[in-house]
Amino acid sequence: MTSLPTTDQLRTRISGAALQRAFDYFAVQQPDRADFATAAARISGDAAALARVGQVVAALRSGMGRLLTQEQASLPATFDPQDPNEPVEARFFHAVAFAATLPDTLAFHRTRAIPDTASRAILADLGRHLRIFERTFGHTGLHVQNWLALHLRGVIYDFGRLQAELERLDVPAAELRAAGVPTVTGSVVAGIHIPDSGPLRPAEVDASLARVRPFLARHFPELPPVSVARCTSWLLDEQLCDLVPDSNIARFCARWHPIGAPTDGDWSVRNFVFRRPDADPADLVASTRLERAVLDHWRSGGHLHQRSGWLKLSGAVPS
Ligand SMILES: CC(C)(COP(=O)(O)OP(=O)(O)OC[C@H]1O[C@@H](n2cnc3c(N)ncnc32)[C@H](O)[C@@H]1OP(=O)(O)O)[C@@H](O)C(=O)NCCC(=O)NCCS
Repeated sequence: MTSLPTTDQLRTRISGAALQRAFDYFAVQQPDRADFATAAARISGDAAALARVGQVVAALRSGMGRLLTQEQASLPATFDPQDPNEPVEARFFHAVAFAATLPDTLAFHRTRAIPDTASRAILADLGRHLRIFERTFGHTGLHVQNWLALHLRGVIYDFGRLQAELERLDVPAAELRAAGVPTVTGSVVAGIHIPDSGPLRPAEVDASLARVRPFLARHFPELPPVSVARCTSWLLDEQLCDLVPDSNIARFCARWHPIGAPTDGDWSVRNFVFRRPDADPADLVASTRLERAVLDHWRSGGHLHQRSGWLKLSGAVPS
């Protein structure tokens, strides 16, 4: 890999044509562009902030393509997302640092012969999360830096309806055996994620899952064949089959064989369903079938769970 960008190179990466190119790859929408650009200009003119951007770039480069633990990969928060008075350069700090990292990510993708369309497809998740932030908190910013660090480190890709992350199975052997998972602790699996990008139609899920194995075999040939997918989500809570029967969600949930015990999923549901992660459920209003069912469930003393599950990946592997 090339040497670390100098201060001047960092400035170049977050201004002018390079910043516009980052907006393009990240699919940054108009409502976020002005704040993103203001933050980049302020950081460019502040030596200490630019040095912090340089540290993020260095951390992401050193983790490029590597399967790190959460602790190893963690990028600390720079602001309180609830506070609309946080300065724009704090709210967009990581977005700017990711723009400064983009040339390294694209260079890594090219070494793996990952096509530009695939780079764009996964990196567009950044623009999606900028919009989700505003839906959630009412002002602009980006607080899921650890999620998007996976994208910038080249360990997650887009497969149409789903995304798949290269991850190590960190589940104890006894739990894997009990769940019938046909692989061992520490092996590489495809961690499946479900972007907020419209309905979760079963045919699109099938098509996405079928693309994962061939893609990983082609672009990560040094890995043993990745034949197991794992998903950890509120969408795998079996109660959803009763809460929203005959739905895309119920059908998605039914695909997975559960692993281990469920954990608390109420926060996840407030976040992913109501986009009000810290709200009191008494203040939430339902406008969809799922929301009505969840609010009734909570009011009657129930809870939602987060669940892990596995399935076998099919899909022809290129010879
Ligand atoms: C997963 C997801 C795509 C499913 O959407 P979907 O395919 O429309 O779901 P279904 O068709 O099964 O929906 C059944 C009902 O629940 C509603 N519903 C589904 N997901 C909803 C959500 N996130 N918020 C509010 N209501 C939702 C639907 O509108 C529908 O109700 P309606 O008939 O009154 O319109 C959607 O929930 C989503 O985008 N979630 C955010 C991303 C996410 O949760 N990722 C996983 C993170 S671990």
